[in-house]
Formats: sequence, C-alpha cells, structure tokens
Amino acid sequence: MLGRDVMAAADDAVGLTRSELDVTDARAVDHAVREARPDAVVNCAAYTNVDGAEADEATATAVNGDGAGNVAAAAAALGAFVVQPSTDYVFDGEKREPYIETDPTGPRSAYGRSKLAGEWAVAELNPRHVIVRTSWLFGMGGKNFANTMLGLDGPLKVVDDQVGSPTYTAHLAEALVELAGGRLTGVVHVAGAGECSWYEFARAIFERAERDVEIAPCTTEEYPRPAPRPKYSVLRSAVPHAPALPDWRDGLEAYLMERAVAR
Ligand SMILES: NC(=O)c1ccc[n+]([C@@H]2O[C@H](COP(=O)([O-])OP(=O)(O)OC[C@H]3O[C@@H](n4cnc5c(N)ncnc54)[C@H](OP(=O)(O)O)[C@@H]3O)[C@@H](O)[C@H]2O)c1
Repeated sequence: MLGRDVMAAADDAVGLTRSELDVTDARAVDHAVREARPDAVVNCAAYTNVDGAEADEATATAVNGDGAGNVAAAAAALGAFVVQPSTDYVFDGEKREPYIETDPTGPRSAYGRSKLAGEWAVAELNPRHVIVRTSWLFGMGGKNFANTMLGLDGPLKVVDDQVGSPTYTAHLAEALVELAGGRLTGVVHVAGAGECSWYEFARAIFERAERDVEIAPCTTEEYPRPAPRPKYSVLRSAVPHAPALPDWRDGLEAYLMERAVAR
C-alpha cells in the first residue's frame, strides 16, 4: 500500500515488488541495490498481518527485523541513505498523551516486537538512516480499515477505546520521499494530525462518504483479537523540522476523492 504511493511521489525511483525481491534474502537484496545504485532506499516491504504475527513471530521477525537490516546494510555498502517505516505498535499504549521519539518503547504484540527489531537493525547497520514511525495507514493500494468499512453495510459495532492517528499513505509517501534526501537522521514520528478512536474514524468515513450505516461503539473486550493493540498510540514529533502531515480528516477527504476517481 505505502510502496505504491512512494513510487507515485518519487520522480526517479526503481520499485521492486515482493516477487522481484525477497528482503529476507540478503544476497538478493545486496545485488538489487547494487544494480539500482540509488542515493536512497525506502523499504516499504513488511509483514503487516498484526494478528497473524502472534502465531508466526519468526516469519514476522525475519521480514520486519532481519529483512529491514538486509536493506539497510545493502544501502550502507554503497553509502546510500535508508528510510525505514516503523509503527506506533512499538509502544505499550499506556500513555494518555502523544508519544514522542524519546519515549520508551515496549511493544505488546509480536508484530510490534518485530518492527522494533527492524528499527534496531537499521540503526546498527546503516549510520545514514531515518526510522519513520507512523500509524493507522489507509490508502488506495491495499487492505486497510477505511476500505474495509466502505465495503460493509452494517449494522456495525466498532472499538471506541483504542485511540490513534489515521494517516493517509499519499500524504506519508510525500514526506518519506522528502526525507530520503537525508536531512534528518534517527527516529522521527510522522502521522496524520489529530486523533480519534476506531469508532470515531468509522463514523467519519461513513459521514463523508454519505453512507447511512448503523454503527455503535464497543470495547476492545467485546471484540477480542489474537494480538493486543495499544489503547492509546497517538504519535507527535519533538524533532525540530520534522515533516508535519495534514489532519487525518483531510487525508480521509483526499482518499475518498482518489477512490471515486479510480472507480
Ligand atoms: N498498515 C498500517 O496501518 C501501518 C501502520 C504503521 C506502520 N506501518 C508500516 O508501514 C509500512 C508499509 O505498510 P503497508 O500498510 O503499505 O503494508 P502492505 O500493504 O502489507 O505492504 C507490505 C508489502 O511488503 C511485501 N512483503 C512481505 N514480505 C516480503 C518479503 N519477504 N520481501 C519483500 N516484500 C515483502 C508484501 O507483499 P505481499 O502482499 O505479497 O505479502 C506487501 O507488498 C510497513 O513498514 C508497516 O510496518 C503500517
């Protein structure tokens, strides 16, 4: 999903799909990076099945941890910068105000642990890196909450006690391409401005899509899932000159427009 929008946002980029490059294959990654001779690599490959990772943490870690390390090391061998997306799920969700870059991590899920392993690998293997933590992605190129909601007719119950910042992938992609220029190093939080619960997000989706769907709030307990989710994972940046994205509602508006044009 994000990779598609990064390709659209970049002027001159080589995009590789999973069938063209498996990031867990260090030699293949090294070869592909040498072929392309990039100034920067944006690693959008990831194991993103949050619930699936609970039963298969080894695969999640191979892709999100070791795979991210392979990409970072291959870029480092050529002196290239690396941009590594990460996630709000590296936090435990116990805070009640936005998480900044220096807050202690404490992932509660296998997916969160695998992404944190990726952060550490990238930082260790390539000094020229930026780790971009983001959250609640929605966009045109893949499975996501907004697209799922729009496929349902209701009545629905949606979780109201998990709060985060929905982020439109086209907005994030522009920031990633800009950061690929190498002006920031280390960890930076980049997510849609504002915050909401999944229930509030769903309501906004139906309202703005002018869909009359019956929807009610529920608790996480009423909707058990294999992987625990943070109760609160709003991201803010304390890094000077970090990219600031538009409000998530503007992202939603732009997404619905992009969706309508594509239909
Ligand atoms: N989605 C979110 O809400 C969210 C939130 C915060 C952070 N992020 C992070 O943002 C980034 C982009 O996420 P996304 O939502 O765009 O994910 P996505 O749509 O699931 O895309 C991930 C891509 O990686 C591919 N992939 C999986 N294993 C691979 C491997 N071994 N080698 C090469 N490619 C592989 C997948 O291929 P297949 O489809 O064939 O498996 C898929 O094309 C990830 O780093 C993710 O952790 C996502």
